[in-house]
Amino acid sequence: MGNVKSSAGQKTDSMETGENTGTDVMTSVKLRNGVQMPMVGYGVFQITDGAQCEQCVGDAIAAGYRMIDTAAAYYNEEAVGKAVRASGVDRKELFITTKLWVQDAGYDSTLRAFDESMKRLGLSHLDLYLIHQPFGDYYSAWRAMERLYQEGAVRAIGVSNFPPERLVDLCMNQEIPPMVDQIEIHPFFHQQEAVRVMGSYGVIPEAWGPLSEGQKDIFHHKTLVKIAENHGKTTAQVVLRWHLQRGIPAIPRTVHKERMQENLAIRDFVLSEKEMEMIDAMDIGHSEIIDHRCFCTARQLNSVKIHD
Ligand SMILES: NC(=O)c1ccc[n+]([C@@H]2O[C@H](COP(=O)([O-])OP(=O)(O)OC[C@H]3O[C@@H](n4cnc5c(N)ncnc54)[C@H](OP(=O)(O)O)[C@@H]3O)[C@@H](O)[C@H]2O)c1
Repeated sequence: MGNVKSSAGQKTDSMETGENTGTDVMTSVKLRNGVQMPMVGYGVFQITDGAQCEQCVGDAIAAGYRMIDTAAAYYNEEAVGKAVRASGVDRKELFITTKLWVQDAGYDSTLRAFDESMKRLGLSHLDLYLIHQPFGDYYSAWRAMERLYQEGAVRAIGVSNFPPERLVDLCMNQEIPPMVDQIEIHPFFHQQEAVRVMGSYGVIPEAWGPLSEGQKDIFHHKTLVKIAENHGKTTAQVVLRWHLQRGIPAIPRTVHKERMQENLAIRDFVLSEKEMEMIDAMDIGHSEIIDHRCFCTARQLNSVKIHD
């Protein structure tokens, strides 16, 4: 297959099919500053029990994941850090992301929140720091993120849940534009416009909820079942392969070890153009998980306090 020119506009390295040995799937995409970010990672949203999270992250790293996605608002940075440190995997091989919560947007508060996250993680540096939501004083937060980046505390900085207009505004008014925008993307919500806009500003889209959080009975959707049968794969693998072929890094979550492996085993088959189009037809054009453009979301997320 060779390198795939993705619909996200960037080239992903070594997307040749091959045996999935865990490390094979660690193909990556280059961020604007040259930092390589894995195409598949492991997300820990809603795994709030510390012991369970530590076990899951340990299992995920053992299965071959090298990117872990957490956030201050997930209340599990400490467990992630413990599992990372106990994994025995060289820190340089791992890509750890965490996020700044809305309550801490602001210049000084971002610097403080970063220190707190790093203390909980117990790591000397971070790979990617994201502004979790496009709310609060995120312009000041961004200037603090630029400082953290320039001081070398974090290898890359970005945002999350920024719709195209807020992203473009930030890109046009800051010294360092975001390198990543982590947004909801899955077969029911392709975010084509957002992905296109990101492409034109050199921002890498990253898919949260890549399996649509299991909603709308995605694992039994007839289109996906049909495609899965064509390849002797599961519907989850078809969806994750679709993300990979679009060139969009994805961070699926599962608490089950066998599914962690399943979700990585997506490099030994290729979706045809027709199959990609069949999945394109599943797009409903909006989220049924969260509406970032509704005032109610701004109000709700601004009122979530994660500390005193
Ligand atoms: N930036 C943001 O605002 C934001 C928002 C949401 C999520 N995220 C990030 O994105 C990550 C992924 O999103 P998500 O956790 O919301 O949802 P997701 O990964 O789309 O879906 C997770 C659900 O799929 C199930 N699942 C996973 N693999 C499966 C498989 N092979 N077969 C059948 N079921 C499977 C899981 O169940 P089991 O655990 O039972 O397997 C779980 O219920 C999060 O963990 C988080 O790191 C970021």
